[in-house]
Amino acid sequence: MLSSVLHDSSVLALVHPAPADREWWRSSVIYQIYPRSFRDLNGDGIGDLQGITAELGTLAELDIDAVWLSPFYRSPQKDAGYDVADYRSVDPMFGTLEDFDALVAEAGRHGIRVIVDLVPNHCSDQHTLFQAALAAGPGSPDRDLFIFRNGTGENGYNPPNNWQSHFGGPAWTRITEPDGTPGQWYLHLFDSSQPDFNWDSPAVHAEFEQTLRFWLDLGVGGFRVDVAHALIKKSGLPDWGGRADGSSSEGYPGAEAPMFGQPGIHDIYRSWRKILDSYDGDRVLCAEATIDPIDRLTDWVRPDEMHQTFNFAYLHHPWHAPAVRHVIESSLRAFDKVGAPTTWVLSNHDVVRHASRFGITTHQERPGDGIGSSDPQPDYGLGISRARAATLLMLGLPGGVYLYQGEELGLPDHTTLPDEYRQDPTFHRTEGARLGRDGCRVPLPWTPDAPALGFSDAGQAWLPQPEGWNALARGVQQADPDSTLNLYRTALELRRSLDLGNGSLAWYPGYDPESVLAFVNGGTAALMNMGSDPVPLPDGELVACSINGAVMDGYLLPNHSAWVRLS
Ligand code: NOJ
Ligand code: CA
Repeated sequence: MLSSVLHDSSVLALVHPAPADREWWRSSVIYQIYPRSFRDLNGDGIGDLQGITAELGTLAELDIDAVWLSPFYRSPQKDAGYDVADYRSVDPMFGTLEDFDALVAEAGRHGIRVIVDLVPNHCSDQHTLFQAALAAGPGSPDRDLFIFRNGTGENGYNPPNNWQSHFGGPAWTRITEPDGTPGQWYLHLFDSSQPDFNWDSPAVHAEFEQTLRFWLDLGVGGFRVDVAHALIKKSGLPDWGGRADGSSSEGYPGAEAPMFGQPGIHDIYRSWRKILDSYDGDRVLCAEATIDPIDRLTDWVRPDEMHQTFNFAYLHHPWHAPAVRHVIESSLRAFDKVGAPTTWVLSNHDVVRHASRFGITTHQERPGDGIGSSDPQPDYGLGISRARAATLLMLGLPGGVYLYQGEELGLPDHTTLPDEYRQDPTFHRTEGARLGRDGCRVPLPWTPDAPALGFSDAGQAWLPQPEGWNALARGVQQADPDSTLNLYRTALELRRSLDLGNGSLAWYPGYDPESVLAFVNGGTAALMNMGSDPVPLPDGELVACSINGAVMDGYLLPNHSAWVRLS
């Protein structure tokens, strides 16, 4: 048995000290709502703002600090709302600005802040600014708000450079000029319906500053900033033979991608930070920046820039104890250098849900692209067991946490969704070669026996829910003390009462690092046994355990996670 000397913090190697500052966002739990799939109140099969407001009391049971809403602005929905046609509006599909006010007010009554999604890299091709740019012609100030270039080759037949869209195919589309002749090309790092803004233009800065103030005035708690690493492009737009998403590949380090992480970008966030700081209430900016390595990512959260940035290296960790340990340790050390919290995350609306991801035992190159009927199916039993363990470990870490709606129910992806339902532009732009992200965006199950599982009173759902989700409905899990929902509730309550988010981290010695992760955060030890042999728990009180049914053989931990209050 491990000796009590191990409980003496002086013999533990401290990786991360408890932070001196305690602003709310350093330790926050933020719950991502994907509005179209959360709760449909008006019965059209698409979730809406009133549906969110109606369930905020239910969410408050999870002891969260804030919700982040994916885009609900007026949009043609070519990329599920990440193609914004009017940044200061609510799409009628989701409700009205009055509905938004009511949502913020109700959230406030539950002590929940509302963070909205800002999409500054690109807008919809239906935005009035882009329509004006098309009408105005080459060389005009209107065109200068976007990235228009002449093509190369005879009559400008070829795109200006070789950049590829994230969603497949070229990142350029040629337009027809107002006089009917084949014209210039515009850049779109995503779908052709999402033209990139030109952030070298002061008018673009002014436009977004107004949008920030608009939502800040309505009382939002801050912004999650979409593709926050892409706004500035390297001058001259040089060719890039690496990956479209800027991740490193042989001969193409991500740090050299000309469309990501350009130095000028940080001045934008410094100016936004000043705007947020001029408001009361400690509002926040969170970067969605897929930048590696972590040491470079921390540039986004230097003291005068953003507050948080998603830790995608953590989200993508393989099921391998040394790899998890490495990402935890390197993250904490890197973020500590700039005085920022690390923001842990395991699922979102762009990746296969972790209850499915961890159930994939066959090699899959890019699981973020979705799983379909003809792929090997994940083992849900294994996936949910590992997901519960991984979540409990994550919630024991110091720093902030993001949760994605439905993970508290242990939802898997829809891995047999018929293609006719797929809406993700990735599926269509690659002619089905990449399935896209619809599988993680399926409407939530609320009650087991109702049509559409209670998502919509009218029984409609914009994507069909998979077989077996009735057993995972929130109503079923609320009544079951061993459910995944109740594991989340218990862990989130303890995380707050034990102040783990503001805590420290030291590795707990004596365990085999090849198979066990064990750390001490304040007076609590968190362990995840990824090996096949049970391991002894430290002396103390077992306060949380990821095993369904919490059946433990004495103080031996099988391949699961546990928290122990050290004695
Ligand atoms: C990242 C968002 O999370 C994703 O859903 C979207 O498709 C792209 N950015 C483009 O806005
Ligand atoms: Ca609706």
